Amino acid sequence: MSKPQRSSGVARCGSDASRWGQLQELQVTLTSSVRSMIKKIEQEKNQRAIQQKERDPVQRERVQSQKQKPEANKRATTTFVDFGGLSLASCEYMASIPEKTLSEAGLEVIQDVGCGNQSTVQLAKITCDGASARNLSQGMFRCVKRFSKVGLSNSGLQFMKSELEVMQKLAPRANIAEAFDLFQDAECFYLELAFQQGGDFTQLRQNALAAGVPLTEAWWGDIFKQCAAALVHMHELNVIHCDVKEPNLMLKTANCFEPQVVLIDFGVTQEVDEQRTVIYGTPGYIAPEVWDTKTWGKEGDMFSLGVVMLQLMLDRVPDSGNNCGIFVEDTTSYRDVRAATQNREPPFECLPASYPQLGQLARQMLQKDPSLRPSATMMEAEIEALSESWTEIVEASDEAETPPPGMALFEPCEGSTEKHVCLERTGSWASASTAEGSFLSSDSE
Ligand SMILES: Nc1ncnc2c1ncn2[C@@H]1O[C@H](COP(=O)(O)OP(=O)(O)OP(=O)(O)O)[C@@H](O)[C@H]1O
Ligand SMILES: [Mg+2]
Repeated sequence: MSKPQRSSGVARCGSDASRWGQLQELQVTLTSSVRSMIKKIEQEKNQRAIQQKERDPVQRERVQSQKQKPEANKRATTTFVDFGGLSLASCEYMASIPEKTLSEAGLEVIQDVGCGNQSTVQLAKITCDGASARNLSQGMFRCVKRFSKVGLSNSGLQFMKSELEVMQKLAPRANIAEAFDLFQDAECFYLELAFQQGGDFTQLRQNALAAGVPLTEAWWGDIFKQCAAALVHMHELNVIHCDVKEPNLMLKTANCFEPQVVLIDFGVTQEVDEQRTVIYGTPGYIAPEVWDTKTWGKEGDMFSLGVVMLQLMLDRVPDSGNNCGIFVEDTTSYRDVRAATQNREPPFECLPASYPQLGQLARQMLQKDPSLRPSATMMEAEIEALSESWTEIVEASDEAETPPPGMALFEPCEGSTEKHVCLERTGSWASASTAEGSFLSSDSE
């Protein structure tokens, strides 16, 4: 056997360098694997604590009674069922999320602005340090959607990951919320979002009325057309929202006279053709066929939007008071909600007579048979066509401030640039913008 050749100094140097590189790579891999394992162990510990809680008879009974009384839980929350520890893939994903505290991210939390099933949403101000690293065209405020690491399940983590990915895929787009970043500290994951100042649709009616906005069919039509536009975009990209409901629809600004609708919460979206074995969504909004198949189609989103439309026009959005939604009312279990969704005729007869065309549209969207519902594109086009019958151009010049026959000018509030016209025949109010000619919205027909 020949003796191994002693390599030259240069060659030895090169080979040492490459071995050193390999060693460094190995160290990085091992460090990240060890970190992943530690995180996995922590997660499993938390999971065991939760399961322990579930075994506790008092806690179990509480959970059970909540499951059996969905109407007691007035604010609609997403069904989210998952058990078991975190997979290695989840741990690896966790380890790949940048670590920084909120202050290192240049954000200072001001207050809570919302709370969902999966998260707490907080308003944050961008600090001086944070400002240099950001495009401030979106203003000095952000929202952080905070997911606690305690009890976070595989699917919880998966949905958080897909929420960011989906938002990045859909953005930038009017009517779709924007996400900027995802990071973590020891306790939480944080999804940094654009701040939607106008509140969610659970408060839409109250906010609009408080601002003096007339709730005409044209005004609702504009709102619903924008909801449809958000779904048109998603559906074109073969993404289904699966959780369209009032808390997941917001206004970008507080100006209810010119509402800018934004769809939020992409936590449980689904790709077209993806098969699911667990139902995600919110009872009362889940379409009849989804209760059977567990899988959403685009038509499912249209049904959920139909529920939103009807509940808004009827003033029956679920709240902490007596309202619990058109398919949740008089139910005591998810089985009942399913039966109500699949068999109950929604209360169309209670719709105000002033919304005839939108009432008709809601009827189509709430068809039990998904093939009979309009698509988002059809809905958008239909409202666009209807809006021609709702609007009537009014002379906008300051000199010609004489209202059309049968109407009187009304100054809404001091300092407002809006001009409002009272339709004398019905006493209902219409808003007229003076920007590019005035549009008169009427619910008198
Ligand atoms: N970008 C935002 N700006 C202002 N408020 C927000 C924003 N995002 C969410 N909110 C508020 O926080 C609430 C909860 O947010 P979100 O729906 O994203 O959480 P969630 O945990 O996924 O909820 P759930 O699963 O129960 O639907 C919203 O209903 C809304 O009122
Ligand atoms: Mg939500």
